[in-house]
Amino acid sequence: MDEQAGIDAGIQHYYSSVFDEDARLTTRSAQSALEFIRVQELVGTRIAAGSRVLDIGGATGIHANPLAEAGHRVTLVDPVEEQVVKAQRHGTFHAEVGDARQLRFADNSFEVALLFGPLYYLRTAEDRLKALAEAVRVVAPGGWVFAAAIPRFIHHAAVSLGNIPPKPYPQAWVEVLESGTPAPSGRFPAGHFHTAEELEAELQAAGLTAIELHAIEGPAGFALERLPNDEALLQAALTLVRRTGHLTAIRDMTNHLMAIGRV
Ligand SMILES: C[S@@+](CC[C@H](N)C(=O)[O-])C[C@H]1O[C@@H](n2cnc3c(N)ncnc32)[C@H](O)[C@@H]1O
Repeated sequence: MDEQAGIDAGIQHYYSSVFDEDARLTTRSAQSALEFIRVQELVGTRIAAGSRVLDIGGATGIHANPLAEAGHRVTLVDPVEEQVVKAQRHGTFHAEVGDARQLRFADNSFEVALLFGPLYYLRTAEDRLKALAEAVRVVAPGGWVFAAAIPRFIHHAAVSLGNIPPKPYPQAWVEVLESGTPAPSGRFPAGHFHTAEELEAELQAAGLTAIELHAIEGPAGFALERLPNDEALLQAALTLVRRTGHLTAIRDMTNHLMAIGRV
């Protein structure tokens, strides 16, 4: 089994039997609300009313459903059938099994593509370019591609929060910092963690223009992962990240990065 086939098998197992993705953005921690609100506003404030939106790696429809309820015509694809079945239960959009690297849709058939998942599961730059190129192909000229990534400086979070690192200091942490390749151990079947500059270069290579880069949560998101919902903290974190999430000093210090480009 090649490396990506192993990651893909891990994804099937993780999302069908280990992790409840449906609850991740609703009840898990105070970070959930921060991520959900920020993603919805980064997308919702840019796209035109009634857009045709393809949510690639859309899982159970946590973002697809509110976008459909806001009047957009949404289609969701995800490789994990169990998640697609849950997505179909919303009844507000079409959902089917599919893979970001090869979409069955015609050229120019959407105004918006969302890639909130695939890029951090694809190990090679070649596969990530395939996924981005497919998103670009199915979106009509003038449309939007939104792509999320996990920043490779993620272990700064653990230390900033006072977590004692294992001894000896894990070589795997150094490898993520240097190359973006996460360790194969652990239950999360990750493929690649980005820097903001690398993510921008990948969107450029796919032909996207007017690229914007934003921290989705900002540094506060790390601490909020450990806390239950707290409205005052949430509002403070939102204010900080709305004002500073695009700055180079801030955008990598976050649970998730968002790149936005025009076709
Ligand atoms: C962390 S979840 C994110 C779900 C949702 N898009 C969100 O933003 O909350 C990542 C999703 O990416 C999907 N995924 C992984 N590899 C993919 C691929 N090659 N093509 C499409 N989706 C993929 C997974 O099945 C999973 O549902």
